[in-house]
Amino acid sequence: MTSRPHTSRHHTTAAAESADVIVLGAGPAGLVVANLLQARGIDCVVLERATPDRVRTRARAGFLAANTVRILDRHGLSDGLHRHGRTHSVCEFRTDDGRFRLDYSALGLGERHTVYPQQALVSDLLTYYVKAGGRVRYETEALAVHDADSDTPSVSVRAPDGRPGRWRGRYVAGCDGRHGAARRSLPEGAVRHYRRDHHVTWLGLLAEAPPSMDAVGYAVHARGFAGHMARTSDITRYYLQCERGTPPGAWSEDRIWDELDLRMRAEEYGPLRRGRIVQRDLVDFESDVLEPLRHGALFLAGDAAGLISPSAAKGANLAVLEAELLALALTDALTGGDPTGLDAYSARCLTRVWPAQEFSHWLIELLHRSPGTDHEAPFHDRLRRARMTALRTSRSQQDWFAERYVGV
Ligand code: APR
Repeated sequence: MTSRPHTSRHHTTAAAESADVIVLGAGPAGLVVANLLQARGIDCVVLERATPDRVRTRARAGFLAANTVRILDRHGLSDGLHRHGRTHSVCEFRTDDGRFRLDYSALGLGERHTVYPQQALVSDLLTYYVKAGGRVRYETEALAVHDADSDTPSVSVRAPDGRPGRWRGRYVAGCDGRHGAARRSLPEGAVRHYRRDHHVTWLGLLAEAPPSMDAVGYAVHARGFAGHMARTSDITRYYLQCERGTPPGAWSEDRIWDELDLRMRAEEYGPLRRGRIVQRDLVDFESDVLEPLRHGALFLAGDAAGLISPSAAKGANLAVLEAELLALALTDALTGGDPTGLDAYSARCLTRVWPAQEFSHWLIELLHRSPGTDHEAPFHDRLRRARMTALRTSRSQQDWFAERYVGV
């Protein structure tokens, strides 16, 4: 379907509320879309299932690529991250063959990450949006997107008091994540769904402890992967690969720290700084991509558009990139009647999504033993070691890594 020129503003009925753009979800994707639309005078609303408190405090990712920071800079959404975020540019690999460090700011494109907890970014984005007069409806769950292939799409919702409601609009930005209403509402056959299960599970841990090293730590160990990622001066994220289906509470704190010490080879490289574990979650590594990222007036961005496993921290960065493209395209359509941006939206995103998926997949294979116990696993293990050796010894391989690791 091609986009419609801007004719009328609202499609109001007595029972329904309306906005030109209905944004589902107040995560990084939805809030970047909403901020950009609001700043351009586009009538929009954000419908969010959770409470404001939950939205502002839910710990997720924390690594922002240089391109993401540039996007947020461009739109005046980056004060907080410049004030409180920390730049980061070193990763350290620990393996059976020793350890090595890569300062990726001195390799490839010479770019760095900014470490800024995602909940802080989301909280900033909400504050900017509300200050600019933006509308958010919390505790409002989108149930389904209706008539997306018509000029009069609508979203049925469950309001905070539990009663049904409906929003009518001209476009719907589906930014409500992998289990949201946007994905659910796609009719059979409307989009192609590419997916892959990597058969890897991480136990994600948030520890009230200062970072133990000045680098992202990736430890490859016969007992499974372990990872270290600084968040703030007193909060550190750790990851432990575990069996799929392990209950997050199955391991005691002591066992977790012992296992982290073991896999990160604390005996050789120094002990980890322990602290109380304040959050645990399980992450099954699954990747998927929907094509196209559109069905009529419904556009997908962020996790709703595709999942990327967290090994390379690309999820939030892709979400911001897609959100900017979508918001600018919606603005062109609604203010100038120009649909070209919307028509190109999916293809433009996908040229960024697939390289990110490819790198993420490469990194998963680098960091994990083959899940199979069959005769091919030892072969895979040798390939993995050869890949790690190339990364340790070859400058061109390191440049390749750096460019993809920090870029989107
Ligand atoms: N109705 C309304 N809101 C919903 C619904 C629904 N049916 N379902 C989910 N939501 C809300 C969630 O409560 C959440 O606030 O949508 C929001 C989705 O936000 P995220 O999950 O953060 O997704 P996104 O904005 O796409 O961010 C993507 O950030 O941390 C990374 O790995 C993460 O890749 C992901 C990225």
